[in-house]
Amino acid sequence: MKNQLKIPVHVAFIMDGNGRWAKKRFLPRTMGHKAGTENLRSIITYAKNIGIKHVTFYAFSTENWKRPKDEINALMNILLAYLRKETKAFLKEGAKLNIIGDMSSFPEELQNEVANSIEITKGNTTITVNIALNYSGRSEIVKGINEIISNDNVKAVTEESFNKYLYTKDIPDPDLLIRTSGELRLSNFLLWQLAYTELYFTDVFWPDFNEVEFEKALVEYTKRDRRFGGLSDD
Ligand code: IPE
Ligand code: IPE
Ligand code: MG
Repeated sequence: MKNQLKIPVHVAFIMDGNGRWAKKRFLPRTMGHKAGTENLRSIITYAKNIGIKHVTFYAFSTENWKRPKDEINALMNILLAYLRKETKAFLKEGAKLNIIGDMSSFPEELQNEVANSIEITKGNTTITVNIALNYSGRSEIVKGINEIISNDNVKAVTEESFNKYLYTKDIPDPDLLIRTSGELRLSNFLLWQLAYTELYFTDVFWPDFNEVEFEKALVEYTKRDRRFGGLSDD
């Protein structure tokens, strides 16, 4: 089966449904968030094994600050614990950590841990694991525009040169976006980069998303005819 799959270079994930996963089990929402980090390792390993070069996980949006303080604090702690535990696994997989988003409003302890994991994994080239933290597609674009207008030497931009002002400047656009939990929207994720991305939605809640579900998405992706505005080859 795997031989017949068309392998995307970059897959982005909107990891949604942690809260509903927990609710269904009469557990607090934070248990859903914890469970939603436990599948990451196997997803990254699977992606690496089949030759995907970039994965991007939406972990915290700028809009998520609207949530109760307790939940936000729990999310920060879960992320901190994840990085402390998983940086070794990143090394084993040859995975490089990259963050997209504005971390400056995150706790210093978390910022330091992230910086540490980035430093430790910076030489890895097998797969890049991008985590979107305090990320918003619109603010990313506005940030780019502000950088351009504050630079007197830039008189005009092209699509290619504008790319350099984005958090994703070193990453190709996603070929496939997967959103779990049955929501059919982008929630401000990678608005510029998703222009020609294939979209895949599944009702599975994020903590239940595993290699089998990932393969289902890839089977669907394999069937897609990516025309980019042109005509099919056949
Ligand atoms: C996704 O799960 C994780 C984050 C947004 C941080 P949710 O917490 O959005 O789970 P639901 O959508 O409420 O089920
Ligand atoms: C999107 O999920 C953000 C992340 C997965 C981090 P949300 O649960 O925050 O999105 P909405 O509110 O349903 O659009
Ligand atoms: Mg949600």
